[in-house]
Amino acid sequence: MMVKFYNISVIYPGKKRALDNITFTIEKGEFVYITGPSGAGKTTILKLIYSEIQPTEGVIHIAGKDVSRISDKSIPYLRRNVGVVYQDFKLIYDLTVFQNLAYALEIFYMPQKEIKLYVEAILKKLELYTKRNMLVKFLSGGEKQRVAIARALINNPPIILLDEPTGNLDEKRADSLMQLMDEFFQDKTVLFATHDKALIEKYPARILELNNGRLVFDSSLKNEKVNISD
Ligand SMILES: Nc1ncnc2c1ncn2[C@@H]1O[C@H](COP(=O)(O)OP(=O)(O)O)[C@@H](O)[C@H]1O
Ligand SMILES: [Mg+2]
Repeated sequence: MMVKFYNISVIYPGKKRALDNITFTIEKGEFVYITGPSGAGKTTILKLIYSEIQPTEGVIHIAGKDVSRISDKSIPYLRRNVGVVYQDFKLIYDLTVFQNLAYALEIFYMPQKEIKLYVEAILKKLELYTKRNMLVKFLSGGEKQRVAIARALINNPPIILLDEPTGNLDEKRADSLMQLMDEFFQDKTVLFATHDKALIEKYPARILELNNGRLVFDSSLKNEKVNISD
């Protein structure tokens, strides 16, 4: 088991209940879509896994550790388990490819010499080495995707989170992203938040569907869709 949510609720300041008693388990190496309409709670689930927020109620285990009530100082350590591909990739456009990747390691207080080794290795793996000194703003869309994937993989985390990475992509770009994931996330536990139903149909995998903070469907449990009207 890589990710376990047990009776998780999140109430944001202002009393907004973003997640309501969510329970699921994700095994090592699984690929799972987190789906549902805007505001359903997809990003909140990813933020919990990344320890950006903590649950109001319930217990979360990540890679065997209870992260539900962790102290601030253990957060950087936990984040080593998790690589993130953000919506619109969130790259720093006025930095080079190399600098963008190095930055992702500096937050772990890694020494510069070691950072250089890690960055060069991932640049070669993703076939970005010749682009290393280019500013990100001058890259093509496909190259930006590769940098975003490289950044998520840079410290070889077992878990990868993607938050609507195909949100603004045409079908061709979405296809190329799926191919990159197929190639480079093979041994990863992947949680992919998306409301893109066509993409899920084209590339089927396990689905966790949220609506208004509730888990209304888990395709790994073979039961019927829960009726969400109260
Ligand atoms: N920091 C926050 N403070 C208050 N409410 C929030 C915050 N972040 C998200 N929400 C609310 O929580 C709900 C779930 O949000 P989110 O997880 O971002 O949904 P999704 O990613 O599925 O669009 C939404 O109603 C959203 O407005
Ligand atoms: Mg979101």
